[in-house]
Parts: sequence; structure tokens; C-alpha cells
Amino acid sequence: MLAYLIAGVFFILALRGLSSPASSRTGNRNGMIGMVIAVVTTLVTHDIANIVEIGIAILIGALIGVTIARRIAMTAMPELVAGFHSLVGLAAVVVGFAAWLNPGAFGILNDTGVILPISRIELGLGIAIGAITFSGSVIAFLKLSGRMSGSPILLPARHVINLGTLAAILVLIGVYAVSPDGGAGEGWFVIAIAVLAFIIGFLLIIPIGGADMPVVVSMLNSYSGWAAAAMGFTLGNTAMIITGALVGASGAILSYIMCRAMNRSFLSVIAGGFGAAAASGAAGGGEQRPYKTGSAEDAAFMLSQAEKVIVIPGYGMAVAQAQHALREMTDMLEDKGVDVKFAIHPVAGRMPGHMNVLLAEANVSYDKVFELEDINSEFAQADIAFIIGANDVVNPAAKTDRASPIYGMPVFDVDKAKQVFFIKRSMGGVGYAGVDNDVFYMDQTVMLLSDAKKMVEEIVKSID
Ligand code: TAP
Repeated sequence: MLAYLIAGVFFILALRGLSSPASSRTGNRNGMIGMVIAVVTTLVTHDIANIVEIGIAILIGALIGVTIARRIAMTAMPELVAGFHSLVGLAAVVVGFAAWLNPGAFGILNDTGVILPISRIELGLGIAIGAITFSGSVIAFLKLSGRMSGSPILLPARHVINLGTLAAILVLIGVYAVSPDGGAGEGWFVIAIAVLAFIIGFLLIIPIGGADMPVVVSMLNSYSGWAAAAMGFTLGNTAMIITGALVGASGAILSYIMCRAMNRSFLSVIAGGFGAAAASGAAGGGEQRPYKTGSAEDAAFMLSQAEKVIVIPGYGMAVAQAQHALREMTDMLEDKGVDVKFAIHPVAGRMPGHMNVLLAEANVSYDKVFELEDINSEFAQADIAFIIGANDVVNPAAKTDRASPIYGMPVFDVDKAKQVFFIKRSMGGVGYAGVDNDVFYMDQTVMLLSDAKKMVEEIVKSID
């Protein structure tokens, strides 16, 4: 018990560490220490049937984990996380069924040999949340990896169907818990709960559009935590209860923060349908508007002459893996006395902290990296706003166009900078929300149409 509490303290320290890029490595290490303590304690304090089999399973799992972690591209991280969540959900379902099939081994039988009513509630909830997490995460994985269309699939009367199915699951758990014969004759309850929960997980996620998927992944992360906590009660395992509650609560808070950063209500994300409007408002259909293009030499000259430059990285920087070249460029500018800062939008890229991770990987010093609210007022004093692979997060339509799907999202005031350099590959490409961006056509904007890494490398060559 004491060891589990110590593991819990390490998990809390891990979450604390992960709240800032500077302490995230320590946070990760603390999480790993906590997990080792929890696993070893479970193995030594329980009557383990076959330690060799468990050892082999851990080894195989570790090998798969290390291989995936080494191979995965940073841009594919959200779908990987969704894939892993589906396994957490499935594990909760399997543990639930194991407890139901062999309740004696789990110590959840009462004197008359039936499963305790409270354990039946925990079991039902654990299986239900686990199954929702599993099927929901599989759909999120398929959508994020492009194996299924990212646009919302809207069934007629879906709210009624969803609420009806959820209510049916809760009623089944309630009836299961109070049924007097406990173990006998109620096999179909548990199976029905699992089947309905698998279906509702699928139904809840298919109407959600691609742009909201990261919120969904974080929400499913939260569900997987609650499923683990429910199973912790069934197994009488304190570490699982603590860890599950921490994952559940932190996932819920993260979902809320992302929704706030996109100015979307959590309920509207869960209700789904976002993205259909975005697609219909996509750029390209209207008249051609004039814009200026420039070369790497132009940009290098102007950047070298500037006093203050604010760099706004976005998803395109991640795709191009331009962060190292960008760091080299900003180092050279600083050597010339230019004040360079990085502005990070809370939803830049495709997952929370996406840009922070990439800049940290390129050894950009944390004290040069600023959040939206801390730097937005500085654009008025900036000589250059250097936009590299960002789009939606600088789109002024979010401030002015009520019909825009991103209306209300806080964005960088790049229009206040004296000059804007905008790196993207073509005028046709749009951001995640699929809408045109007035910044391309502003008088002070120069479009640098190229792959981000290639363009920055050329700028580096041109800075003398
Ligand atoms: P986006 O608006 O998605 O724009 C990405 C830009 O990068 C596009 O203009 C694209 O244009 C360009 N690009 C792509 N590959 C490139 C390359 N190799 N070289 C140069 N440019 C490249 O990115 P953002 O500003 O970071 O916004 C993030 C979006 O994702 C927001 O809409 C946000 O709401 C959404 N979202 C994010 C999150 C999280 S947690 N980050 C969560 C939910 C939703 P070209 O194709 O023309 O190159």
C-alpha cells in the first residue's frame, strides 16, 4: 500500500514535470520510476500464477513499444496515441470479463457465492467505459491516419440514438447490480453492456470532424483513465485507482484547455458535426486575389536588417522538419543583433505542445518561446512576423468573419507587424480548417512559396 502511494506521488510529479518543456524529461523519468514501483509491487505482493509468462509478456510489449517509439514520425503522434488508447480500453474490457468469469480469483464474491453488488457496478462501468474507449479510439485512429474520411459522418437522429444507447447501458448496469441471483443467469447483461458500449463508442466518434480529432483523442485518454480506475476498484489495486484518476482528470482538463484555445464548447465537440462547415467554406472557389512573392535572398536581407522578428511556427514546420534549419537561421540573426522570439499558439500543429517539442528538439532556448497571450501585444513593435507552416492560427477571419469555421479562435495579430513573411508550399494549400487567409494578400505580406525546410536552408545560405 505504501509502495503504491509512493508510485502515486511519482505520477503526480510526472504530471507536474510535463507541464513545462524545461522539466518534461524529468517528468517522464518520474512517471517511469512510478510505473516500475507499481509493477514490481504488484508482482511481489500478489500470488502470481506464472512469473515467467508475465516476464515474457512484458518483454514482448517493451520491444514493440521501443520499436514503435523509435520509428514513429512526430506528425503521426496523434494517431499513435489514439491507437494506444484503444489498447487501454480493450485491456479494461478483458479484465472486466476475467473478473466476471472467475470472480473468486478477484475476491469479489459475497458469502452466498454471488458477485458483490458494488463489484457488479464497478465491473459494468469498467467494461462500458473500456469498450467505448476501444471502439472510439479505433475510429479516431482510422480518421487521423487517413484510412477513414476525416469529415463528419452525420446519422439522422444521432443525438436521440446516442442518448438512448447510453441510457440503456446505465439501466443494464443498474439492473445487473440489483438482480438478486447475482452470478447466475445474467451472463447476457455483461455481454449486452459490452456490445452496446462498443456501438456507442463508434457512434460518438464518427460524427466528429478531423479538426476536432485531437480533442477527441484527449477525451478518450480521459475515458481510458476512468476505465482503469473502475477496474482498480474491481481488482482492489490502489495504484490503478490513483493512476486512472490522474489520467482521467488530466485528460479532461486538457480537452477543456484545447476547446478553449479553439473557442469551441466541449459539448459542441462531443455532439460532433464540426468540419462539414469548414469544408464548404474552403478556399479556392472565388476570384484570384493579388499577392506578392519573394525569394530567400529577399527574406535574408530583410531579416538581417530587422531589429525585432517574431517567428510563428505551425503544422507545416513539423511536416517539413524545418526546426533545425530554423534554429540555425535564428542563431545567425541573433549574432547580428536581431531580437528573435518564437510565438506558439496553443493549437498550432496537430497536438498539444507539438511546436514546443520540435523547438526543444532543435535546442531553441525556452526563454525565447512565448505563449499567445504573452506575445500577441508585441506584434505592433515587430519589424517582421515570420510565419513558417502556420495558417489557421494567424487567420484574421477568426476575429472578423462570423461565418468562418474558426470564428472566435484567438489568433496572432500578425497584421500589426511592419512586414510579414509567409512560408507555405503553394497558394492552393489550406490549413486544417480549410479556409482562405487574408494575410496572404496584405500589402506588407511576402509569400515564400516553398517547402519550409528548403526555404529556411536557402535563407541561411543567403545571410552573410
Ligand atoms: P494549419 O492551419 O493546419 O496550416 C498548415 C500550413 O502548413 C498550411 O498552410 C500548409 O500549406 C503549410 N504546409 C504544409 N506542409 C508544408 C511544408 N512541407 N512546408 C511549408 N509549409 C507547409 O496549421 P496551424 O496554423 O499550425 O494550425 C493548426 C490547426 O489544427 C488549427 O486549425 C487547429 O484548430 C487545428 N487543431 C490543432 C490541435 C492541436 S492540439 N494542435 C487540436 C485540434 C485542432 P501548403 O499545403 O500550401 O504548404
